[in-house]
This record gives sequence, structure tokens and C-alpha cells, in this order.
Amino acid sequence: MAIRNIRQYGDEVLRKKSKKVTVFDEKLKQLLADMAETMRHANGVGLAAPQVGILKRVIVIDVGEGLIELINPEIISKEGEVVEIEGCLSIPGITGEVPRPQKVRVRAQNPEGEFVEIEGEDLLARALCHEIDHLDGILFIDKAKRIFEEDSKEG
Ligand code: CO
Repeated sequence: MAIRNIRQYGDEVLRKKSKKVTVFDEKLKQLLADMAETMRHANGVGLAAPQVGILKRVIVIDVGEGLIELINPEIISKEGEVVEIEGCLSIPGITGEVPRPQKVRVRAQNPEGEFVEIEGEDLLARALCHEIDHLDGILFIDKAKRIFEEDSKEG
């Protein structure tokens, strides 16, 4: 496992559309392991492959309920709306109020290529939407109603 470099806002790779994964091999498992390690090292709750410079539809999430690894994730249904503050490991020092569904259902593949469905509410729903957006080059600042800039190093 290795910590990978997190691409920062301004890096073109963050604006590109990621490609569907078709090969479920050791290289994919290595990417997933590195992404989980990188996310934890940065104290994040989610990370998408383009954030480490890999344009593949791969995300990892851990909102405190264990690691979730999703390949080719797609939102298949959503319910409600919640406006909350969120941030992004690729955009340090900036947070924003972003409306997201309260509940989402996501269809994806697991690291073995098997189809899975997961349901997330509140923070997990938010993380799923945020990370899936990354796969299409969309950043939370594109959807934020209000943006806040941290004026100190605190927090
Ligand atoms: Co992000």
C-alpha cells in the first residue's frame, strides 16, 4: 500500500470524465488499497480515483461505518434534499453549503466485478453523491449555494 498524491484544485485531471472499469485485476485492488490509505491519511470520508490522477470510475468512502469500495457507481434513485456544509480533499481551505439528496440508492460493482446495491442516508448519501460527481469532473463548488473560505489555519 502507498499514499498517493492528492491532486489539487486547478489540476485539469479533476475536470475530466473518468472511464468505466472493465478489468477487475490486482492493479485495481492495489489502486483501491492505495486510495483507502490516502483517504485515511488525509482524514477524509471519501476519495475518487481522479483525485489521485487515475481517470477510472472508482471511489472509496468511510463515514465511520467501515470502508466502502465501489466500481462504476451509479445513482439509481434519490429522495429528499438536505443542505449541509461540505469540503473536498482537493480543495483545501474551502467549504460550501451544498444541497444533496437525503437518501440515495447506488448500483455499482465490488472489487471482484459483482454487481451490488447500497443505500445511504445523510452523510453517506452526501459522500456517495460527492464522490460520484468527481467521476464526471464535477466539484462541490459547482453545486454550492454559498462558499466559505477559511481565513485561518484552524480546523
Ligand atoms: Co472531493
